[in-house]
Amino acid sequence: MYTEKVMDHFQNPRNVGEIEDASGVGTVGNAKCGDIMRIYLDIDENQVIQDVKFKTFGCGAAVATSSMATELVKGKNIQEAMQITNKAVMEALDGLPPVKVHCSLLAEEAIHAALWDYAEKHGIKIEGLEKPKSDIHEEEEAEEY
Ligand code: FES
Repeated sequence: MYTEKVMDHFQNPRNVGEIEDASGVGTVGNAKCGDIMRIYLDIDENQVIQDVKFKTFGCGAAVATSSMATELVKGKNIQEAMQITNKAVMEALDGLPPVKVHCSLLAEEAIHAALWDYAEKHGIKIEGLEKPKSDIHEEEEAEEY
């Protein structure tokens, strides 16, 4: 059911941990499954992401998507990081089962939440960035409520 890449990032997650005095920290959760993801960004004066760490309290796919998302944003500037969507994360993992798509959304939103925190702290505006939601799920799931 899971690709080799998903299994690899689940079993050997990259960039696990925290960053003290991070430039931006974002925490998001999904109330339905109860999973929580936190991303720390270390951003330099040229707006380049020098380091990124994550902590995920969640399912295997959440761990794998956070791991891959941190790999994708590392070394990028904040505009490039904005382009890293959950689809890009899923593609980099060679796909996820449909019931696990929301896990990758959590990764995208955790990065956005950390960028939002960075922008707020520095009094800047990041093009295309919206205020993070606290509860992340897919739209069709949301319609059930
Ligand atoms: Fe909810 Fe994976 S089952 S994040």
